[in-house]
Amino acid sequence: MEEYFTNTKILSGPGSVKALRELGSKALFMVADPYFEKNGTARRLAELSGAERTQIFSQITPDPTLEQVAQATVTVQEFKPDTVVALGGGSAMDCAKAMVYFSGLPVTFVAIPTTSGSGSEVTDFAVLTQGGVKHPLVDEKLCPQIAILDGELLGQLPKTLIADTGFDVLAHALEAYVAAGAGAITDALAKEAFCTAVTQLPLSYTGVIAARQKMHEAATMAGMAFTRAGLGLCHAMSHALGGLLHLPHGRLNAILLPAVIGTNSGAVQAKYAVMARSAGFAGSADTVAVRNLKNGLIRLRKELQLPATLAEAGVQPGKVWQSAGKIAEAVLADPCCKSNPVQVEDYMIRRILEEVTGRV
Ligand SMILES: NC(=O)c1ccc[n+]([C@@H]2O[C@H](COP(=O)([O-])OP(=O)(O)OC[C@H]3O[C@@H](n4cnc5c(N)ncnc54)[C@H](O)[C@@H]3O)[C@@H](O)[C@H]2O)c1
Ligand SMILES: [Fe+2]
Repeated sequence: MEEYFTNTKILSGPGSVKALRELGSKALFMVADPYFEKNGTARRLAELSGAERTQIFSQITPDPTLEQVAQATVTVQEFKPDTVVALGGGSAMDCAKAMVYFSGLPVTFVAIPTTSGSGSEVTDFAVLTQGGVKHPLVDEKLCPQIAILDGELLGQLPKTLIADTGFDVLAHALEAYVAAGAGAITDALAKEAFCTAVTQLPLSYTGVIAARQKMHEAATMAGMAFTRAGLGLCHAMSHALGGLLHLPHGRLNAILLPAVIGTNSGAVQAKYAVMARSAGFAGSADTVAVRNLKNGLIRLRKELQLPATLAEAGVQPGKVWQSAGKIAEAVLADPCCKSNPVQVEDYMIRRILEEVTGRV
């Protein structure tokens, strides 16, 4: 039996943040990325809501830590809001999700993503970092009730951020499509997200503003797919390496995804081939289509000026090899491994590390 549900109402379109006014909030607590606190957007949106009391919490960093969540939880419990708004990328949203979860407060929880990447606005995940290790927390109760996808917040996105987060969308969609929990409904979401990202990401990167709203919707669709279907080895490795190397999550996915296709293609070649053809990477034989899919992603990565290896991303190969045992252990313990279409073994992780480490 296939089960699909989402608990999130999705409001999408330029200017859709105005919906905050309709919530009737009296006390609004916002977890905002520091960028939006500094440029005044957080304050503007809090005021737009018409709430009598507002507070903004922005003591968060990319890859939020358990300590930051603990501090946010104490602060929100003192404030006692009826509405919590998360404004930012995956980091701000995950901190807010965990904060709402641990505080136990009965609030209306609204997520306003400002990157087109994590899909966190519609997922049951919150990724928290502790002692250099990223831990995905998974529970239906983490999912926001409302997601507002407003492309007008994306006008100032730096190119590197568009590239990094865009590859996160591609990785979510492709991993969900072949994941152990995939079904017809998650496949439809994953395929639409992947195909949209393949065409719109280069346009968004070169500054086509209309493409940003489309990428925003693709990110959400990919999130809706993977929160039910699961992810895979690319994300398990990206979590393990991200905690150790502090490279952007999407950039690590860009480095890892083509190598993971090679590892999984024995088991899910036919499905990869369907996705390849849908996205315009032609090839009549499945083997050719999968090769074109891998090469197409490598070409797109280059077009977006993303590194092809960890060495190109500035990591000394020795740093990876010194910690290879610890990395493999973290990968195998990551919940994303369980939904990879092939059972992950230590040797696969080391082979991928060899492929992606590169030379200095
Ligand atoms: N919960 C989930 O389902 C899920 C899924 C995938 C990834 N994640 C997590 O999300 C995090 C990554 O999130 P992300 O890729 O969205 O990046 P992020 O939230 O870490 O933000 C990255 C940087 O972008 C800046 N930024 C954000 N929006 C901006 C904008 N509109 N204009 C200018 N600058 C802006 C921020 O200030 C920050 O410096 C990682 O911790 C990852 O593990 C969570
Ligand atoms: Fe991701």
